[in-house]
Amino acid sequence: MGAKFAEAKISAIVLTGLAALATLVSCNTEGAISPSLDNLKSLEILELRNNALSGFIPASLGNIESLNYLDLNDNMLTGTVPLEILSRLVTTLDELNVPHNDLDGTTRKSVTRVMGAHSSAAAAALFTGFLALATLVSCNTEGDILYAQRLAWKDPFNVLQSWDPTLVNPCTWFHVTCNNNNSVVRVDLGLAGLSGPLIPQLGGLSYLQYLELYGNELNGSIPAALGNLSSLVSLDLQGNLLTGAIPDSLGAISTLRNLRLYGNNLTGTIPQSLGSLTSLVKLELQKNSLSGTIPASLGNIKTLELLRLNGNSLTGTLPLEVLSLVLVGNLTEINVARNNLDGTVGSTGLRVTAIIQDRLKISG
Ligand SMILES: *[C@@H]1O[C@H](CO)[C@@H](O)[C@H](O)[C@H]1NC(C)=O
Ligand SMILES: *[C@@H]1O[C@H](CO)[C@@H](O)[C@H](O)[C@H]1NC(C)=O
Ligand SMILES: *[C@@H]1O[C@H](CO)[C@@H](O)[C@H](O)[C@H]1NC(C)=O
Ligand SMILES: *[C@@H]1O[C@H](CO)[C@@H](O)[C@H](O)[C@H]1NC(C)=O
Ligand SMILES: *[C@@H]1O[C@H](CO)[C@@H](O)[C@H](O)[C@H]1NC(C)=O
Repeated sequence: MGAKFAEAKISAIVLTGLAALATLVSCNTEGAISPSLDNLKSLEILELRNNALSGFIPASLGNIESLNYLDLNDNMLTGTVPLEILSRLVTTLDELNVPHNDLDGTTRKSVTRVMGAHSSAAAAALFTGFLALATLVSCNTEGDILYAQRLAWKDPFNVLQSWDPTLVNPCTWFHVTCNNNNSVVRVDLGLAGLSGPLIPQLGGLSYLQYLELYGNELNGSIPAALGNLSSLVSLDLQGNLLTGAIPDSLGAISTLRNLRLYGNNLTGTIPQSLGSLTSLVKLELQKNSLSGTIPASLGNIKTLELLRLNGNSLTGTLPLEVLSLVLVGNLTEINVARNNLDGTVGSTGLRVTAIIQDRLKISG
């Protein structure tokens, strides 16, 4: 977060034609309108036209009771005009000027709409135009991503009710955990009754360590963009309705320790790239519709303790490279039953062979 504006008796701020507004930005990455501007209790005129402001229009501007002229024309603002600001049109705000932005439902540089009204009729007309709206965040990139995900999901039990995009960051939202830098590190929404897709933007949660979404009714495919979650330790999507292939890109998450994708309807082959997951401890892909052979590359995962591939349509044989992990690594359970592996019949009788050996020496 950037500058906080002290409460001050400033009645007009006019900053136009600037490329960057260091004083008004509320975070260190992009120029966004600072929500703390609402500390300017005497502000009557706020004119920020023709800048390069991006992000959402902070709802908190609606708290400035004295504001009568708000001009944000010609920026790169996204989202919608907050209801908190629109409702000022019925009371104190004489002019609201927001064309030439990238606001939802508008086409950049099409119609110029200058809104001015002290009449509730005009305000009511505006409300209908903006009603579908989500409210807004300012410079809340991770919050934007999670809020977009909220909008993409059906949430019959309202578990996402606290996901309020007008807050500066999502760290106080239920089921979201941040680190000391206010970056999201956990999303815990197992057994939450959610349905709908995983949005690719989730791949932008750079600090995310735990994505726990098991036991919902999520459908669609696993976005390849999740391979960009370079801090992820656990990806638990088991027990959903996911389809499509396991993205190769997941093999890039070198921090991953648990990959639980079982109990969906994933198809395609097990990506060879998963052999690059050299921190992986649990790989659970059972009870899907995976086909093809078991990649020998999985034998690279010396950290593996549990390998469950049962209940798919896998063919070929279990590679010796993988089997050898039982002898030289920490692998203590391999389950490949109920596939179409060579020389087996997917049937009731399971062949279980125990390998009983002494504890391995700690090497090095
Ligand atoms: C917080 O950010 C600082 C500076 O970017 C970084 O050095 C530090 O490692 C971060 N801490 C956490 C917990 O991510
Ligand atoms: C996911 O489920 C919803 C609701 O049943 C359906 O409308 C949508 O088409 C499904 N999406 C996919 C990709 O299967
Ligand atoms: C991962 O991030 C990079 C860099 O931000 C981006 O270019 C790429 O498209 C992302 N990958 C996916 C699969 O979204
Ligand atoms: C899983 O997907 C395959 C291929 O799309 C389809 O034939 C099969 O019926 C699905 N199985 C279930 C249990 O939905
Ligand atoms: C195997 O497990 C032991 C005990 O948990 C651990 O110390 C060791 O690092 C593991 N080895 C590998 C290759 O992960």
